[in-house]
Amino acid sequence: MAFPQTRMRRMRASASLRGLVRETELSSAHFVLPLFVSETASGREPIATMPGVERLSVAAAVEEAGAASELGIAAVMLFGIPAEKDEQGSGAWDEEGVVQLATAAIKRAHPGLLVITDVCLCEYTAHGHCGLLREDGSVDNDASVELLARTAVSQARAGADLVAPSDMMDGRVREIRTELDGDGLTDTPILAYSAKFASAFYGPFRDAAGSTPAFGDRRAYQMDPANGEEAVREALLDVQEGADMVMVKPALAYGDVIASVKRATRLPVATYNVSGEYAMVKAAAAAGYIDERVTVLEILTSLRRAGADTIITYHAKDASAWLAEQR
Ligand code: PBG
Repeated sequence: MAFPQTRMRRMRASASLRGLVRETELSSAHFVLPLFVSETASGREPIATMPGVERLSVAAAVEEAGAASELGIAAVMLFGIPAEKDEQGSGAWDEEGVVQLATAAIKRAHPGLLVITDVCLCEYTAHGHCGLLREDGSVDNDASVELLARTAVSQARAGADLVAPSDMMDGRVREIRTELDGDGLTDTPILAYSAKFASAFYGPFRDAAGSTPAFGDRRAYQMDPANGEEAVREALLDVQEGADMVMVKPALAYGDVIASVKRATRLPVATYNVSGEYAMVKAAAAAGYIDERVTVLEILTSLRRAGADTIITYHAKDASAWLAEQR
């Protein structure tokens, strides 16, 4: 039956009716707050391209993790900024590395909060690429995978609840699983950045982490933004290799990919609402072009609707506070 018997507006007439039939819920239990932990920061240093986000000392990161936990946020995701970078990125698997120290300190202070660690070399390599370089400047996949697995093990030993490889090397999930299991870390899940696109939206992050490639770009390992089928294939391969969760990144321009990866894998799916997406909203809100609160909640709801179980977002604290006020 169609109009006039059917009227779609009937079910939209009041807040209670709308609530009764709302298909998607947003809750801080699904949020992950990324934190930049710096070996050289004393306290907190603002990041110019990401208003409201800071580079944190280990002590400040513990404090920030506590604030996130109080707001009901499920997890923090740690990115390390080492004092020194080298060709191999050896700071990534250093037992006394900034992420390893921050992980242990956060778990000690806030045992109920999950700590997820980023497994990548780009923040630790002098050249800023996500793996080891060959003479010709290309990234050596298999040699990099070994170092990534070593990094994941060191992070899990430090107490990381989940490890999240973001490098886009082939076969790294399998190698990480093997090395974790070999080390007795059989209960540490892997959140694989399965479909990570070579995106302009990472700009502010690279500024924050000092991880802009010294030459070239990441298109020889990150995905072409034009490819949705390939994203599903990447995700299915990671499932085969032992991923416990898969990720689509960035988020806002990739809702179709989130939906198809969810359908194909039936695994928990995370999406990363990245730095450039955050920066655009903050800039437009500061200029008075949009209402930040309504915009952020709409964006985060849309990601859940697309099929994301988990949302990694710099808006996590604000959004959690707003959701608590709505209740
Ligand atoms: C590291 C990594 C990046 C991001 C997360 N992990 C940067 C990159 O690939 O250049 C981006 C996160 C963001 O933009 O918020 N490989």
